[in-house]
Amino acid sequence: MCGIFGYCGRRKAAPILVEGLRHLEYRGYDSFGIAVANDGITVQKKQGKISLGGADLSGIKGTMGIGHTRWATHGVPNDQNAHPHLDCPGKIAVVHNGIIENYAALKRELQDRGHTFCSETDTEVIPHLLEEAFQGDLAAAVEKVIPRLEGSYALLVVAAGCPEMVAARKRSPLVLGVGDRAFLAASDVTPILEHTERVVYLEDGDVASVSTKGIVIRQGEANVERPVQRIDWSLAEVKKGGFPHYMQKEIYEQPEVFSATIRTLRDEETPRMLEGIQGVTLVACGTSYHAALLCRYLIEEHCGIPARVELASEFKYYTLPGGDLVVGVSQSGETADTLAAIEKARMHNHPTLAITNVLGSTITRLADHTLYMRAGPEISVAATKSFIAELAVFFHLVDRLSGGKLEPALGSGHLAIGEALLQDLSPAVELCMGARSMFFVGRGPFYPLALEGALKMKEISYIHAEGYAAGEIKHGPFALLSPETPVVALCPPGPAFPAMFSNIKEMKARGTPMVVIGAGGNQELEEVSDVFIPLPGGGLVSHILASTTLLQLLAYHTAVALGRDVDQPRNLAKSVTVE
Ligand code: AGP
Repeated sequence: MCGIFGYCGRRKAAPILVEGLRHLEYRGYDSFGIAVANDGITVQKKQGKISLGGADLSGIKGTMGIGHTRWATHGVPNDQNAHPHLDCPGKIAVVHNGIIENYAALKRELQDRGHTFCSETDTEVIPHLLEEAFQGDLAAAVEKVIPRLEGSYALLVVAAGCPEMVAARKRSPLVLGVGDRAFLAASDVTPILEHTERVVYLEDGDVASVSTKGIVIRQGEANVERPVQRIDWSLAEVKKGGFPHYMQKEIYEQPEVFSATIRTLRDEETPRMLEGIQGVTLVACGTSYHAALLCRYLIEEHCGIPARVELASEFKYYTLPGGDLVVGVSQSGETADTLAAIEKARMHNHPTLAITNVLGSTITRLADHTLYMRAGPEISVAATKSFIAELAVFFHLVDRLSGGKLEPALGSGHLAIGEALLQDLSPAVELCMGARSMFFVGRGPFYPLALEGALKMKEISYIHAEGYAAGEIKHGPFALLSPETPVVALCPPGPAFPAMFSNIKEMKARGTPMVVIGAGGNQELEEVSDVFIPLPGGGLVSHILASTTLLQLLAYHTAVALGRDVDQPRNLAKSVTVE
């Protein structure tokens, strides 16, 4: 949520900052802004997306600056609330990702001392506090101010006439890039890749002073060393590569993502903590939660291990089951609720495992052990390839813990995804795009997929869509069925098929248009469907992977047909770093 980016080097900073912000826009796109430091501070900021233009960079001189792309929390998206924010004389500029929880009290206090505020944001207290603390040493001023800030922050600060940019973090991500005669700071590595593969992840409490001479990191009174790490994501991966949208590109990358994740995990040892586990609790949000729900079916059936799945945002209200391994699943590794869940598990002395896509992300530093999925950078706000990669991690774990029960299917999963990519979904898209409301239904492991299909549909097409366990739909939602309410039903072969088939007929009897995804060759099933989508693959694993891909494509093409902003749907942001 919100992206921050800073540059300190020898080139003109303004165009570099705007280009960097373009890469970060998926974290929030309500407004954007930059501040370039020279003898003074020059600020450009604007409501709306960068692509809508409005940034006049001509004549902005200076080789060091900071930028921000906003997901609004305090105050509506407008020019005034856009970052950077300044102190009273306009000599100190700050960009911030996170929330300052005690900002109201600080603001009153500062106003009483004569400070004038220009925005409704929580962030603006920071430059005013810095104004009072600054006596020529910017890093020292930041060190003095941060103990006063309650909440979470990743901050970048520059001051007029000051040769350094200062970075600080607490519970919000911040990474530094170590380039050739240029240093960078950003919320994640995507804008840094353009400049360097060498990065330094800051820890909570770190204050880094970044100048053309290098980086000095302090924690409290002491200087600290943080390792320089090499990122294995490439620049090409963060570009669209000829696809009209990142989401489509990312869906098409799924065969390789699935294979790469399985391949890499095979070469790794199974984490010790999994040996002899008595129970597991999986915590996650959104799409990652759906992946965890699906895992539960497999882990209980194939490994005989009791599994519980909780929404991370609700986990804090539950009592933890004694002894369970707690697994946090998060593509970004930065989702605030999932991090809080892992922290709670640690406080209660539970072993913790993180499953994530992002090297160096906060969750990797909280959990006892991390398993990485190999999805590469996911830019579209809608999670697609990361879901497939999460499934790959779970399939792998279930396979290891069950003594190889899934093994034969893992080597060919990518083929089922590949076949699904070739399906023509236009009749289904035509049927869905006219709907105001829809249902997605499934049974067993296909119930979480129905939830995920509905989430994809609603978040990018804005059609109201609900995922339901097919057996549950008669217990109320049936009242909503009508010829205007299409239902997408997942009906693969397997033990749930007869019950699922009956449910489809019951819904059809209410005049409901049915889009059915099932194995070809069953005439009765095809006849009851308004649109029948043949499901590629044979066996549970490939049916899960192919169904996922078909549901993603259905949402994608429906959203495109409706002219939606597929990669940056309204009100959303990729990484939810606030509770
Ligand atoms: C789904 O398309 C969303 N991007 C969202 O539900 C996401 O899965 C959720 O915010 C969790 O993110 P995480 O995996 O990075 O923790």
